[in-house]
Amino acid sequence: MKIPDTGLFITFEGGDGSGKSVQCSLLYEKLKTFFPYLSVMQTREPGGSEGAELIRKMLLTGDQDRWFPLSEFLLFYAARYDHWCRKILPVLQQKGVVVCDRFFDSSFVYQGIGRGIPKEFFQFLHKMFDYSAEDRSFIPDRTYILEIDPIIGVHRSNCRQAYASQKEDRFERIDINFHKKIQQGYLKIAEENQQRCKIIQANQSIEKIHEEIWEDIQIFLQKSVDDKV
Ligand code: TYD
Repeated sequence: MKIPDTGLFITFEGGDGSGKSVQCSLLYEKLKTFFPYLSVMQTREPGGSEGAELIRKMLLTGDQDRWFPLSEFLLFYAARYDHWCRKILPVLQQKGVVVCDRFFDSSFVYQGIGRGIPKEFFQFLHKMFDYSAEDRSFIPDRTYILEIDPIIGVHRSNCRQAYASQKEDRFERIDINFHKKIQQGYLKIAEENQQRCKIIQANQSIEKIHEEIWEDIQIFLQKSVDDKV
């Protein structure tokens, strides 16, 4: 297996409680053992850089009306730009591998479909990312969308939050109809980006999901090599 010259950028997406974080860690560990001489990084959003982690706290705690939808959207992007420029891009520019728990698809779904932020606002901000590097697009190479029944996902997530010392549950506390919209939003993204996105059924065992993802990565990397020849 060979990593493309522009690095490998993998993202995980899905509703709350879909088990993304576990899958991120498993894939990260596997990639690290396969590419011991490359820089392999696991990261998450919102957060991932010092400044972005500070913004994370502001976004995930507190009351629903803490932010106007537009302020919330801009905060996610302020965090993302810092994370992208300081952490993700440098690894990709060294031909490394980045595994990220959530990225801009989360904003499309939660802020776009969930909170009603218009598409044009995204397009405008994404232009800014295009200016950050000539040699590497910020669009992930492969995105795994873990699909889960929102009722089960939100319940799982709330159980996890019940034991957390600091509750980051501002989104989990929104009503179930919001989470159903999120699920539909992800299906739409997968439909519109079939080359990049793969839906994975999250109601399988952790090992089975990991195997499915690992198999897909190998096919993806082989295809990237074949396409270049
Ligand atoms: P997190 O604790 O990371 O939840 P999860 O384990 O489900 O990923 O919380 C992230 C929350 O932030 C999640 O509810 C989705 C939301 N979010 C957005 O609304 N927009 C975004 O751009 C991102 C990255 C996350």
